[in-house]
Amino acid sequence: MVDTVTLIYGDKQIELPVLRGTEGDPAIDVSQLRARTGMITYDPSLANTGICQSQITFIDGERGILRYRGIPIEQFTAKPNFVEVVWLLIFGRLPNKEELAEFSELLTENELVHEGIKYQFQRIPVDAPPMAILSAIVTSLAFYHQQFLAVEDRESIVQAAARLISKVRTIAAFACRRSQGLPFIYPDPKLRYCANFLHMMFSIPYRQYEITPEVEDALNLLFILHADHEQNCSTSTVRLVGSARANLFASCAAGVCALWGPLHGGANVEVIQMLERIRDGGLSAEDCLRHAKDKDNPFRLYGFGHRVYRNFDPRATILKAACERVFAQMNRNDPLLDIARKLEELALADPYFVERQLYPNVDFYSGILLRAIGIPTNMFTVCFAIGRLPGWIAQWKEQHIDPTSRILRPRQVYAGPPESRYVPIDQR
Ligand code: ACO
Repeated sequence: MVDTVTLIYGDKQIELPVLRGTEGDPAIDVSQLRARTGMITYDPSLANTGICQSQITFIDGERGILRYRGIPIEQFTAKPNFVEVVWLLIFGRLPNKEELAEFSELLTENELVHEGIKYQFQRIPVDAPPMAILSAIVTSLAFYHQQFLAVEDRESIVQAAARLISKVRTIAAFACRRSQGLPFIYPDPKLRYCANFLHMMFSIPYRQYEITPEVEDALNLLFILHADHEQNCSTSTVRLVGSARANLFASCAAGVCALWGPLHGGANVEVIQMLERIRDGGLSAEDCLRHAKDKDNPFRLYGFGHRVYRNFDPRATILKAACERVFAQMNRNDPLLDIARKLEELALADPYFVERQLYPNVDFYSGILLRAIGIPTNMFTVCFAIGRLPGWIAQWKEQHIDPTSRILRPRQVYAGPPESRYVPIDQR
């Protein structure tokens, strides 16, 4: 164990302190590097750069470990309760019964969206991508909740977080209904968080959707498995935007936009489209692997690989088992699950994937579970966003109340032309 590392450059040298996380993971503190040497570090995809110290989520990518506030993810699966995990992530410990009941009540009180938002929906084209709708409407929550644009005390953060967590599922369900030309179904205060989302998604004015415990549990589990994943692309985006002291709504809307990308949360849609192409005969599992390995082909084996996990992604393992369980409980089958199993088996035996330590990630099986619940494919990434929202809020809050936090402002290595002269247009 070292406390410092020595940087030798030319005839000079400096000592750089080494920080250690609670699990012993070391980090060279380069925060004074430029001031002391005039140099910066170069790490274009930030793969070697810690941007903060955080107490929220721990990942050990080599050992396939994921913990929320110290609790292994597997321990939330027996009786999955998303709202409990929301509280844990945002407030730092498990809630007691009263705290959980109080917070659930707050979510119920805030489940409606302002009528103005309902009218906004009427102006959105019916074929608009739901992630575009989600980011736009999350931003526009700032129109109607201006008292939470500057939140400094704990109570205001609780109130703003409850509004976001509660309303996001109403917004998501309305976005889905709009795309299907169906009437909006208002939330039902008697229903719990996930049951209420299912009701708004699937009830129709003359027929109440029947919620089964298996489906409600599956959705709770799915949201929990997506709830936080430390400094991933969307969460870092939330922190970056929030570091400028942008409000919680704006910061989380930016997170939605980042999540939309196919290399991040959008991968769950790509996975299902890939599996459907295999099912429909347009592509074979072997073709998929061949295209994924071809460096001249932009195709990727979606749902495989991860920046941090060099071993199995524990979320994928849990989701695969949940798929098997839910299909057995529903007495149903999905050919896409068989295709996914086969594709996984082929990839895990292929030297390309073995050498690069590429394993199924959370997106490989999540779409199959969402399909089993009846969620349309264009809503998969929206469901990921509902699940990830407590993580974004927790990370935003952690940064916001940290008195030492500064605006995030990376540097660059300029590689453009040297100084040159402006040439007037008639001389070019
Ligand atoms: N298919 C084919 N090749 C891959 C894949 C894949 N899914 N993932 C990584 N690789 C290759 C890379 O091209 C690279 O090859 P090289 O060494 O010959 O250049 C090698 O494996 C190592 O790649 P990494 O450095 O591990 O990948 P990186 O950290 O840059 O990207 C990412 C991680 C974006 C997740 C990548 O694995 C990927 O594109 N996967 C498919 C998309 C996906 O499933 N995204 C969801 C991720 S989980 C989440 O965001 C919720």
